[in-house]
Amino acid sequence: MARRRIIAGNWKMNKTPSEAVALCNELKDLVKNDDVDVVYCVPAIDIVPVAEAVKGTNVHVGAENFYIEDKGAFTGEISAPMLKEAGVEYVIIGHSERRDIFGENDILINQKVKKAFASGLTPIMCCGESLALRKAGTYKEWIARQIKWDLTDITADQVKTLVIAYEPIWAIGTGETATADQAEEVCKMIREIIADLYDQATADAVRIQYGGSMNAANAAELLSKPNIDGGLIGGASLKPDFGQIVNA
Ligand code: 13P
Repeated sequence: MARRRIIAGNWKMNKTPSEAVALCNELKDLVKNDDVDVVYCVPAIDIVPVAEAVKGTNVHVGAENFYIEDKGAFTGEISAPMLKEAGVEYVIIGHSERRDIFGENDILINQKVKKAFASGLTPIMCCGESLALRKAGTYKEWIARQIKWDLTDITADQVKTLVIAYEPIWAIGTGETATADQAEEVCKMIREIIADLYDQATADAVRIQYGGSMNAANAAELLSKPNIDGGLIGGASLKPDFGQIVNA
């Protein structure tokens, strides 16, 4: 079954509003590709100007985070209805930086996945192991557990539209990319987990990205693998290289 490729930039905590608009303009012609879903996941304050800057192009807007309540006394947070009104379609959930630096656990991540679906946002749900777990050889069990917890009470129809990003923590921002075979091994395993939890049709539909030092030089090989349907790109999404990844 043909799955549509999805290449998403995770800008993390980079780009002021004016810098964000400048980057959109710089990338505009480079990211043109009607066969790929292109997404910019940007800092909350950049969402409105980025949505304006990409209007009429093939670029979709994503958020990097949100909170599970619609409104109220949650200082510093941003809600799904706020994102929706601003034109956001995708939201990253469970990134390892949210887990490790901000203490998000799988219970909250599961609540966020539920809330995103209930709000009409498509989750880009992240999983991945630390270097210690990779070295210990227990990374497969770890990732399987993350996926099961994070998808608790999520339906097959929802999972069919979900995006899962496999991001080994040891490959994020380190310049040390997983080899295409290492990435494919885990992405294939994730699809098998979805088949076990749901059914084969759901596993065939879910899109799985690789993330971790993906760049213009290694994207084509990673994306040639049968179970890698796209990329979640940090550093290289802030440069013209992103266009080469979209068109890899
Ligand atoms: P880098 O591409 O900078 O390694 O970041 C990957 C990532 O964390 C994307 O979410």
